[in-house]
Amino acid sequence: MADDSGLTAAEQRTLAWLEERFCDEVDVGDFVYEAGAEPRNVTQAHFGLLLRQLRLLRWLDRFRFDSLIDVGSGFAFMPWLFRERYKCETYYCDFVHRWNLPTDLWELHKVDHAITAKLPQLPFADGAFDLVTCRIAAHHFRRVDRFASECWRVLRPGGALALADNVSPDDPDAAVEADAIERFRDPSHVHCLSIGEWRQVLERAGFTIEHQERLDMPLELEGWARRMHVGDRDREELRRRILGASETLRASWRPQETGGDVRFVLTEVLLIARRG
Ligand SMILES: C[S@@+](CC[C@H](N)C(=O)[O-])C[C@H]1O[C@@H](n2cnc3c(N)ncnc32)[C@H](O)[C@@H]1O
Repeated sequence: MADDSGLTAAEQRTLAWLEERFCDEVDVGDFVYEAGAEPRNVTQAHFGLLLRQLRLLRWLDRFRFDSLIDVGSGFAFMPWLFRERYKCETYYCDFVHRWNLPTDLWELHKVDHAITAKLPQLPFADGAFDLVTCRIAAHHFRRVDRFASECWRVLRPGGALALADNVSPDDPDAAVEADAIERFRDPSHVHCLSIGEWRQVLERAGFTIEHQERLDMPLELEGWARRMHVGDRDREELRRRILGASETLRASWRPQETGGDVRFVLTEVLLIARRG
């Protein structure tokens, strides 16, 4: 980064740790994003993901915890990152068994730290974990109220849930329209809640919201569609729907045509909710 002066002390520590821990192992080369410059060899979407992961680490840095479960962990390796950083027991949990299997590629501790389970049920004792994390998975869940109360149950008193997910615009019609576009791209998309709806769900389950952060999720249509293996014709349909979206949805997603692609911005919320 050309200019680190805007980073807090906690972010500086996180950045230093990431650099020390990973930069020797990964040939970053030109794989950088200068402050204020366009990304090179890294898309807006990739860089946005990295920034949002840093935000989460910044919050986790404030807690003391010995056990953590990441639910809807998919093929991401967040529990491994948490384990490396916080030297605690971290578990993966996804209902796709394949994501939980160990691979030859990296030692991700999946042999004895990955559980195949379908949310909203979590097959753990009451108070089993200090921390539950859930990133970009909850919009696939059908019963978010039961998901929230299961998270509350498996947390020890004083434990916390760190939830990050795409959120819908506040306007209900725009939210329906956004869900339809998301579902067209990914049929497993169920529903994005608004930030206000998430707060209500978590509070109803007994949590106290300690922190709320709204984060931009910049995306390029081409890559967004490719990640879900969307064919050319359907990608054109997505393009048509995004560029031709209602004024309210466009105000939220801010679509722009650039160099043959379409850039737009989804919103993610990071909520830190405490079990009292
Ligand atoms: C978009 S991926 C997010 C993966 C990861 N958390 C990340 O940060 O990249 C969503 C994951 O949620 C999982 N998932 C969806 N519904 C689930 C359910 N009912 N129970 C458990 N996992 C579920 C999916 O299998 C998928 O791996």
